[in-house]
Amino acid sequence: MSTIMIIDDDDQLRISFERLLKEEGYGVRTAPSGESGIRMITEAIPDLVLLDVRLPGMNGLEAYRQIHRIEPKLPVIIMTAFGTTETAIEATKMGAFDYVIKPFDIPQILSTIRQALEAGRFMRSPVDMDASPDKIKGEVIIGKSPAMQEVYKAIGRVSATDATVLVRGESGSGKELVARALYHHSVRSDKPFLVINCVAIPDTLLESELFGYEKGAFTGATHRRVGKIEQATGGTVFLDEIGDMPLNLQAKMLRLLQEKSIERLGGRETIPVDVRIIAATNRNLERLIADGQFREDLYYRLKVITIWLPPLRERTGDIPLLADYFLSRYASELGIENPGITREAMSMLVSSPWPGNIRELSNTLQKALIFNRGAPLSLADITQATVDDAKNHHLSEDACDDQVRAWIRTLLSKGEQENLFENCMDHFGGVLVGEALNLTGGNRSQAARLLGMSRPTLHAKIDKYQLKIETSVR
Ligand SMILES: Nc1ncnc2c1ncn2[C@@H]1O[C@H](COP(=O)(O)OP(=O)(O)OP(=O)(O)O)[C@@H](O)[C@H]1O
Ligand SMILES: [Mg+2]
Repeated sequence: MSTIMIIDDDDQLRISFERLLKEEGYGVRTAPSGESGIRMITEAIPDLVLLDVRLPGMNGLEAYRQIHRIEPKLPVIIMTAFGTTETAIEATKMGAFDYVIKPFDIPQILSTIRQALEAGRFMRSPVDMDASPDKIKGEVIIGKSPAMQEVYKAIGRVSATDATVLVRGESGSGKELVARALYHHSVRSDKPFLVINCVAIPDTLLESELFGYEKGAFTGATHRRVGKIEQATGGTVFLDEIGDMPLNLQAKMLRLLQEKSIERLGGRETIPVDVRIIAATNRNLERLIADGQFREDLYYRLKVITIWLPPLRERTGDIPLLADYFLSRYASELGIENPGITREAMSMLVSSPWPGNIRELSNTLQKALIFNRGAPLSLADITQATVDDAKNHHLSEDACDDQVRAWIRTLLSKGEQENLFENCMDHFGGVLVGEALNLTGGNRSQAARLLGMSRPTLHAKIDKYQLKIETSVR
């Protein structure tokens, strides 16, 4: 459970916020002043701090400085009222994760909290390369194949530089893991690491998310907002799924890479920024260029150092290592003895095509373990786990219809109801979109493709149905 520390002198806010966050499943500690908050943080470091700017005694900015000194990788969200946004911006430039303006928009602050917790986890959990099991501290990139050796060498070669790196490979091949390893082995490993998924943010918001905006830049821009790139000052920005970035933003990105500066939306000031960019994509950039969807100049700027992750089917020699690693990891997570795996089952793993690459292998083994009764995983266990999803899909439509009809009859038997039709459709829509997201491990561009809808439409549905997105096993 993640622990969140709230530092605010407003008793009412502390109480209501504590209740809200506890309901969301977080552990909460509170302090009414910077001094007491810092004392508590020194005793036990939380996973996230929510810090008010205007405090009695030590002000928020000073409190931020001290917290940052105690644990530079502890994400801090600044809470500010309208009048004090400049201080919040100041703290953000010094490395605070983000700021939120009172009164809070609850879904927005909860989403910022989730992002900050994830950023903190990424920053603190190291990614080792091919470590022996007894040395593993955090996550580890497994693989001894020549192709993976090349990946390790590339990570090593660029570790002392600030070079932009492009990570390419099929879905589930480990691009994000490599990006995190690049960060942990870089000279900026003590500075922030921010992940921006170009697909997860609707096109219309991506520009302001990345570059920020000035007050009055558009209707609703009631105050200045610092973008993610400025927030990551001194650190590293991971631009995931860059192949999906809209063209107008690609131009701004190119400028950032070439001139190391940005302009906020609606602003004239050129702001120098010091960030290292790591980008990743599973798209065929060359084809996107030919189709006029990706800028060639940006492509050349990005591709200087490219790390290619081979698909799993091209390095089958790594499969037994990966399988052993996932089995011991998931067994320990499930609190069970690792049952091992039979030779036949392992051969099957090695000869499977794994279109979803390592993510698919890892999901399969996790599923097989959940249903395992203690004996070494057999061919049947693995087949069962692999076909599980497919079987769910092919569940006979008749059987499904019977269940749905029964449920609908119960609904109708309750008599006249307002918007019954719409509510029912929304219910099914939510299940459909939710399942598509589950199946794709939270990958929204894949889910949109699967559902035959555009990404903005998918986003609108996610909002409408208030779906919580779980990204697949990490
Ligand atoms: N070499 C590896 N060793 C151990 N685990 C790995 C390795 N490669 C990938 N994984 C695990 O597989 C899962 C998928 O990897 P990751 O998210 O990095 O893929 P990706 O290439 O970014 O996929 P996508 O294109 O779908 O975003 C993660 O849980 C990751 O930790
Ligand atoms: Mg990824």
